[in-house]
Amino acid sequence: MRHSERLHLRNRRPLVQPLFLDEEPPRSEAHSHPFPVIPHFSDLRELHGWFAFASQFFADFRTTASVVPSSPHLAREMVAPVREIKAKVVLEFGPGTGPMTSQLLAALPETGHLYCFEVNPRFVEYLNDHFPDERMRVMEMGAERAPEVMAASAHLSADAVVSSLPLSFFPSDLRHAILSAAAECLRPGGVFTQFQYASGLDCSGRIPKPYDLRPKLGRYFSRVERHMVWLNFPPAWVYRCYRD
Ligand SMILES: C[S@@+](CC[C@H](N)C(=O)[O-])C[C@H]1O[C@@H](n2cnc3c(N)ncnc32)[C@H](O)[C@@H]1O
Repeated sequence: MRHSERLHLRNRRPLVQPLFLDEEPPRSEAHSHPFPVIPHFSDLRELHGWFAFASQFFADFRTTASVVPSSPHLAREMVAPVREIKAKVVLEFGPGTGPMTSQLLAALPETGHLYCFEVNPRFVEYLNDHFPDERMRVMEMGAERAPEVMAASAHLSADAVVSSLPLSFFPSDLRHAILSAAAECLRPGGVFTQFQYASGLDCSGRIPKPYDLRPKLGRYFSRVERHMVWLNFPPAWVYRCYRD
């Protein structure tokens, strides 16, 4: 299996999770991917987060999709439904440098579980370094594979899924795989949250075109609500989607 499919565990556990896989790759292999190394500023945490994020945007704008991480306001709105339903098992899709992650950890009870799915190995390293928390596991894999992870875990379903994935940048088959994975992992009554920049453009092809996520979400979830969060760059719609 490829290195990009290896699982990463949180602190005090081995960095590479042996749930699906045999052994840790040699150091050289682990660093042979195209993403640039994120330098360390141990005492300037926020600046480091911004720098880390921007450097990955310039390396691959189609998966990172923004030059700066989400604002705390946007993160609060994305995590609000998780608090409302008192979720204990949560999946995060595309944590990046962790603006949603920190609020999810604050919202979860001590016995909670957070499974993060992130394709960029630099962000995986960053999260493992910056969020030492026993409740959290960082998986270096696409969110579309979440059902496999849930099936192999002690939890057969999740109470909530929080996604920052740039769906409008993705080809329609990947978008479908991700949304059906989210719906499949959620328990009945569970909630899926997703944001989309207010510009709302479909950037999956050569020429951007207008893109409305709402009808697409309606195919996978029984109820979809949305509201605008202005205090973010750029402002963004937050979608709350419920499963019956
Ligand atoms: C718009 S950024 C959001 C980062 C962070 N959550 C925030 O709000 O600032 C999108 C993130 O999704 C990750 N990503 C892209 N495609 C993915 C996939 N198929 N599965 C999991 N993560 C993915 C990117 O590496 C990036 O970290």
